[in-house]
Amino acid sequence: MIKKNKKLFAELEQRVDDILHKKSSMLNRLQNICKLLKENAMHYDWVGFYFVDRENSNELILGPFEGAPTEHTRIPFGQGVCGQVAKDKKSRIVQDIAQEENYLSCSIDVKSEIVVPIFKKGKFIGEIDIDSYTIAAFSDEDEEFLKMIAEKVSELL
Ligand code: SME
Repeated sequence: MIKKNKKLFAELEQRVDDILHKKSSMLNRLQNICKLLKENAMHYDWVGFYFVDRENSNELILGPFEGAPTEHTRIPFGQGVCGQVAKDKKSRIVQDIAQEENYLSCSIDVKSEIVVPIFKKGKFIGEIDIDSYTIAAFSDEDEEFLKMIAEKVSELL
C-alpha cells in the first residue's frame, strides 16, 4: 500500500504534541485536537472522543468533537461500532457502514468509520471515533496514527 498520508500524519503528530503541551484545560486541548484532525485530514469528516462514564462503567459518553452534532451522546457497551470497540477493547475499521449490522447512524453522509480505543495503565478509558463521507477511507496508516494519538492523550488524562 502506498503510504499516502505519512507526511501529513508526521506533521499532525508534531502539532498534537504542541496542543497537548500547551497550558489549557484538558477539554480544550481535546477539542483542539479534534479541530486539527478534522481540518487537515481531508478524509476525516467527524472527529470525536468518547469516554467511559464514571457513574456507569458500561456506557460511553460523548466528549469533545468536531463535525455535525450527533444524537449518540451516550452509547452502551456493545452497541454500534463504538460500543463494540468498548466491549472488545480492539480497534475497528468499517469500510462500508451499509454492510455493518451493528451500527448507530449519525448522518446519512457517513460512509466509513474508524474507532480506536484509549487505554490508561492498561485500562480501557475511552476511544477516538472518526467518520468519513468517503467509502473505504481508512487504512492501517490511520489506525497507527490514531493509536499514537490515543497514547499521547492518555498520558495526560
Ligand atoms: N457510528 C457510531 C456512533 C457514533 S457517531 O459515528 C458519532 C457507532 O456505530 O457506534
